[in-house]
Amino acid sequence: MTPWWQSGAIYQIYPRSFLDTNGDGVGDLAGIVNRLDYLEWLGVDGIWLNPVMPSPNADWGYDVSDYCDVHRELGDLDILDQLVTEAGRRGIRILLDIVPNHTSDQHDWFHDSRSSRSAEHRDWYVWADGRGDDPPNNWRSVFGGPTWTFDEETGQWYMHNFLPEQPDLNWWNPGVRDAFDDILRFWFDRGIAGFRIDVAHGLVHDRELRDEPPDPEHPDRLQPIYSMNRPEVHDVYRRWRKICEQYEPACVLVGETHVLDPVVMASYYGQGDELQLAFNFAFVYAPFDAASLRDVVERTEAAIPEGGWPVWTLSNHDVIRFPTRWCDGDEAKARCALLALLLLRGTPFLYYGDELGLEQQNVPEEAQRDMAGRDGARTPMRWSNEPGLGFTEPGVEPWLPFGSGPNVAAERGEPGSSLSLCRGLLALRREHADLRRGPYASLQSPEDVWAWSRGDRYAAAVNLGEGEAVVEGLAGTILIGTSRDRDGEQVRAGLRLGAREGALLELS
Ligand code: NOJ
Ligand code: CA
Repeated sequence: MTPWWQSGAIYQIYPRSFLDTNGDGVGDLAGIVNRLDYLEWLGVDGIWLNPVMPSPNADWGYDVSDYCDVHRELGDLDILDQLVTEAGRRGIRILLDIVPNHTSDQHDWFHDSRSSRSAEHRDWYVWADGRGDDPPNNWRSVFGGPTWTFDEETGQWYMHNFLPEQPDLNWWNPGVRDAFDDILRFWFDRGIAGFRIDVAHGLVHDRELRDEPPDPEHPDRLQPIYSMNRPEVHDVYRRWRKICEQYEPACVLVGETHVLDPVVMASYYGQGDELQLAFNFAFVYAPFDAASLRDVVERTEAAIPEGGWPVWTLSNHDVIRFPTRWCDGDEAKARCALLALLLLRGTPFLYYGDELGLEQQNVPEEAQRDMAGRDGARTPMRWSNEPGLGFTEPGVEPWLPFGSGPNVAAERGEPGSSLSLCRGLLALRREHADLRRGPYASLQSPEDVWAWSRGDRYAAAVNLGEGEAVVEGLAGTILIGTSRDRDGEQVRAGLRLGAREGALLELS
């Protein structure tokens, strides 16, 4: 039987920005419950929530201080249970974000770890002596500066691939592995259908703490082959997969496999015994032109092992929203991107607002909250054009500014909108098995066009160029087009596409 996450589409929610039900300007879990009808109407099968666990928010939830509770600003365990139940009633499953690479420096484990060299949890984190007054090695943190912070109290350095407030766990320690087994079970037993794994490639560090070599392509940078990307991380996922398989249906693991080579990304599927899904950043970062997209999709298809299943995403909470990054605000191009996302073989992840074609927002300096400049992708969902935008009560200051752009109420009733297009594409995936499971194959097409088939009966194409183009040899009926007035059109001698236009064809 096809697992639900293979046939379904998943919607990513940044909980602080979805819907605020108690007028504090911060979205909450009750708000997500409140909007389940919308998500059911849209036609998604699962939701991934960015971190909901208690956190001092040095990195907005990615610094967890308790892995078995809910951040009070977002709700509590009861409301999360209610979300699981209410979503389940609508055939929607809930995935959480788990952050196993590091904890918050406010986690009890770290408090204990830094209390003395002989503390019970000392070895749960990565402590090392310096080289004289310098850190133990040359590793650099993703957010800048050394990967090491000196702790006066105990006279050693601790490692953090991200902020000093995010000390890395020591995955060589069996206690850490056991603790996470329990954390997974805690959530799976509550009905959580799976996890998106933060920094999935990063958990294990080199035991000998060897210096990173320079990156041959960027001599001013280092190649992170020892601080992360270690082969031993695969043992962790084989172990987690076994836990997932103890549930019915099996719980699903989606890795934030932030590696740019599709072959390395594909290694996280293991022999069908590691992650079921791995995010594909080569696609996210590809230039938005026909040749580059075709190339990365072909390389991904070739790399993923038999039985593995691709993942496609346009945006997330860390990158610039795709209508800005890929399309320079051009709505027609953004619709081509949505059409491609939902017609590839694999599990599509829509980031909240993607379905509206929401652009990256400009957040003025005084309103910025994130230390890494990612606020523009995390602003409140735009539900309507009423005061408060349907996100919060009128007059309430939202935690990040509203910005500007489309809104759900306006797009919902508009057949030509991005929202209607997404809903239409999601409905077609449900209707036609080959749009879910059919194999992908690239088709011959003019230079600016990317065309592909799904099984024997369907073909899709997007023309990303500025002139009209014809994909020769295609005949059939347009099931859906980015220009919706072409839905139902009979195509006889080749599919003609206008500039920045895409379509799905049922072949005759
Ligand atoms: C990846 C997350 O998506 C990002 O938001 C976070 O800052 C880092 N991991 C560190 O946890
Ligand atoms: Ca709230």
